[in-house]
Amino acid sequence: MNKKGLFITFEGADGSGKSTQLKMAAEFFRNKGFEVVSTRDPGGTPLGQKIREILLHHDGKVASYCELFLYLADRAQHIDEKIIPALEEGKVVLCDRYVDSSLAYQGYARGIDTEEILMLNNIVAKSLMPDLTFVFDVSIEVAEQRVGETKDRLESEAKEFHQKVRFGFLDLAKKFPNRIKVIDANQEIEKVHSDVIKILGNY
Ligand code: TYD
Repeated sequence: MNKKGLFITFEGADGSGKSTQLKMAAEFFRNKGFEVVSTRDPGGTPLGQKIREILLHHDGKVASYCELFLYLADRAQHIDEKIIPALEEGKVVLCDRYVDSSLAYQGYARGIDTEEILMLNNIVAKSLMPDLTFVFDVSIEVAEQRVGETKDRLESEAKEFHQKVRFGFLDLAKKFPNRIKVIDANQEIEKVHSDVIKILGNY
């Protein structure tokens, strides 16, 4: 792959405000004259939207490996159809979730070995890792308030599950400090955005 663009991912708990921050960051890059592709994982392609529907709304037990492979199947399509072509055209690709969500949710929270996830992810994602990843860290209580009453399959998991997800993201940030930047997402939207901009200013 002849990558000319910039690949940035937005990670965090459900209710962390990452999607709002992605939109604001897209605006920031557009104002600077960059071509921006905003996308999301899972569901960034028409095929992926069908996979997303199963993942978020299947009524009944889903085996951990089935869940992992569905996220990976979505990613394989997403990478091929959308992310790599955009990066080859020199665009800025902003992606709502990516491999770190697989590591935090299927790894730290569901208990699948994270090395195994990374190895499988490297196969489907052709070893493409983000240039930069934001982890929007928010307390479990604030996240719960923001998610509200209508919850999808993963949002309906117990508090303990969400605690493991949060710990997972923070641990990943410790392991990959150059790539992953933690942002305090308990703050006001504008303050969170200004923390993001401080880091984007270096790119
Ligand atoms: P998201 O798009 O953030 O949901 P929403 O639009 O409701 O904010 O993410 C969908 C869910 O999928 C979220 O609970 C996290 C989960 N997820 C994983 O468990 N593994 C993964 O690899 C990815 C990408 C997401």
